[in-house]
Amino acid sequence: MSIASQPDRVIIFDTTLRDGEQSPGATLNVEEKLAIAHQLALLGVDVIEAGFAVASPGDFQAVKTIAEQVGIPGGPIICSLARAIRQDIHAAAEALKGAARPRIHTMISTSDIHLKYQLKKSRSEVLAIASEMIAYAKSFVDDVEFSPMDASRTEPEFLYEVLARAIAAGATTINIPDTVGYCTPKEIGTLIQGIREHVSNIDGVILSIHTQNDLGLATANALAAIEYGVRQVECTINGIGERAGNAALEEIVMALQVRKPFFNPYFGRSVDDDTPLTNIKTQEIYKTSSLVSQLTGMLIQPNKAIVGANAFAHESGIHQDGIIKHRETYEIMEAAAIGLPENRMVLGKHSGRNAFRTRLKELGFELNEADLNKAFNRFKEVADKKKEISDWDLEAIVRDETQIQ
Ligand code: KIV
Repeated sequence: MSIASQPDRVIIFDTTLRDGEQSPGATLNVEEKLAIAHQLALLGVDVIEAGFAVASPGDFQAVKTIAEQVGIPGGPIICSLARAIRQDIHAAAEALKGAARPRIHTMISTSDIHLKYQLKKSRSEVLAIASEMIAYAKSFVDDVEFSPMDASRTEPEFLYEVLARAIAAGATTINIPDTVGYCTPKEIGTLIQGIREHVSNIDGVILSIHTQNDLGLATANALAAIEYGVRQVECTINGIGERAGNAALEEIVMALQVRKPFFNPYFGRSVDDDTPLTNIKTQEIYKTSSLVSQLTGMLIQPNKAIVGANAFAHESGIHQDGIIKHRETYEIMEAAAIGLPENRMVLGKHSGRNAFRTRLKELGFELNEADLNKAFNRFKEVADKKKEISDWDLEAIVRDETQIQ
């Protein structure tokens, strides 16, 4: 199968407000969801999965409000999740009525373990339900996404059959969930390749991936899927979500941007083509990340890629020296690309003389060599006792060790 029928960029499907909100303790009220949805629209996401309309009256109201206020013409597609159950699909359709471009995302499990213990249904029953419920969703909206839950642990021949039937019933996006975050990137590649080779009608729909982070592989798996022709990625801000979370939007988008020459050929482009691979306005990433963290109460680990407090901070002397001489020695992207004013030099026990001198200059202290040596030695003694040296500490050191007052 060729990729000619697929878009020449990656559709960013943001599920912060649905899967992200499934993070224990991250519950959001309608106003909070609406604030995040407005910011996601500014960020430029293509699809907002606003919630699971049937889950609660609050979630119904959130999907409805977002559909009406964010899903305006020219805005993102607004989506609601629905199990392959009539009542769920009806609730999703009702909540989405105000959206200019509504999408119903319906799902049913397909792996034997889910069929046996959770659904207690046979494969032929699942096939029939999927077809019937996709057709039902289609009676409300044109845009229907189908997810065979636990796809990555589903017997491949059965998965191909479900997908072919789902497309025949009217699904326009086929999403492949690695529901329990079980796959490695190579396995994801094989899975997508198998689908593209064995599902004869896959060419006419958008192929999507949904990766969970149980083994810390969600972003790597999503990127591997893109290499194999997937053109929609489901992700969340800060990677929040059920259990260990989902693929992080900011990681996928920045990987596609920073490594564009690597990814371009997978889109049939020349290596040096500069056209962006997503519609995301990356300068909005930091603001969006902070808003989601603040409203969900989910703190961001300092070493989190792209948006962690240390992602653009340098402490070691060797690194600081390199950065001062040429930023690209130790940075593969600029802080400004995600909307941060600048990178950060952290002065601590690993820092070197060059960073120390540069920071003192910024604070207005020009020391001669002898004073600089004395101050630097004192700084190292203090740094051994403190995690981070503040500007106040530096000033005190300079005044103690030199004649400067
Ligand atoms: O993890 C999962 O399987 C899901 C689907 C509904 C896409 O969240």
